[in-house]
Amino acid sequence: MNQTADLLTPIKVGAISLKNRFVMAPLTRSRAGEGMVPTDLMVEYYRQRASAGLIITEATLVSADGAGYPAIPGIFSDAQVEGWKKVTDAVHQAGGKIVMQIWHCGRVGHTSLLNGELPMAPSAIKPAGEVFTGTAMQPYETPREMSLHDIARVKEQFRQAAHNALSAGFDGIEVHGANGYLLDQFLRDGSNHRNDIYGGSIENRARLLLEVIDEVSKIWGADRVGVRLSPLQPFNDMHDSNPEQTFRYAVEKLDKFGLAYLHITEMGTESPETAGPVFPIHSLRELWHSIYMTNFDYSLDRANEVIANGEFDLISFGKLFIANPDLPVRFDKKATLNEPDPDTFYGGDERGYTDYPFLEA
Ligand code: PHB
Repeated sequence: MNQTADLLTPIKVGAISLKNRFVMAPLTRSRAGEGMVPTDLMVEYYRQRASAGLIITEATLVSADGAGYPAIPGIFSDAQVEGWKKVTDAVHQAGGKIVMQIWHCGRVGHTSLLNGELPMAPSAIKPAGEVFTGTAMQPYETPREMSLHDIARVKEQFRQAAHNALSAGFDGIEVHGANGYLLDQFLRDGSNHRNDIYGGSIENRARLLLEVIDEVSKIWGADRVGVRLSPLQPFNDMHDSNPEQTFRYAVEKLDKFGLAYLHITEMGTESPETAGPVFPIHSLRELWHSIYMTNFDYSLDRANEVIANGEFDLISFGKLFIANPDLPVRFDKKATLNEPDPDTFYGGDERGYTDYPFLEA
């Protein structure tokens, strides 16, 4: 039977069964504790949002040398794994599903966040702009070009992080291949000027992403691995001479793994040409044979519509989930929504984090 789906309809995403189509987008909130360990406050924040069909954690570091912001969490130490176990237990007890987004910031970093070491990147190309280092905004530095040894080490860090996420009780992982961080820096030719097997042709620029996907799929099974891409995202000074060709190649190759989902961010489609020649990014969908998720400030009504008409399988929501822990219930009851407070998005305490009100019982 072909009944119309909507945001409240369950769906199978690879091996993960979701009770509805509300996905909480990965959101950096910069509230991790000492040693990049998740805190009890973070446990509460994620527990509150377990009515989502799927939670994608905030981007989480595969290694300390991938850091690009203060107070972001990691998944490379035993204490971090123990902290995340509390998060996954809380979400599961509340009936939710949660995958971890694993991350390396590459050139988006600063010596003051990296014990005096320069950030690493595919090429020694400094991004335009400034980075928040915990006390102030500081200009980006020219990163150190990664050696083949560095690349092998980062691949191993992604593999170990995937293994740790399994130990921490997640339902799956999302590889962060988007938004100008390390894997995206390799993919796009504005940030990758290498002339070895990791640079030059699109086959070479996509190599690290595909190798990472291969490694983590061996640990999790591809049907519990998702990947996020941002074909036209200019954020972090990203550009590509031919985004359509780059991302068609990447998506065609990624599709062959049989992953749980592809998660696209539409960011940049509103700023023509900044990240390179614009193309209709959802033409990528014809290359993808499993679940297709998109993200870009969708209203609940619009999201419901594009799911009902079959345009997309899943929509992830960021700001709406920040301000509305019980977003699916509010949608179901057509209740008013709380407004998010941008001043408390990054860093701080429970204010603007775990104190947004639920609907009255
Ligand atoms: C951020 O911290 O600003 C941030 C982190 C991860 C993203 C995008 C933005 O993918």
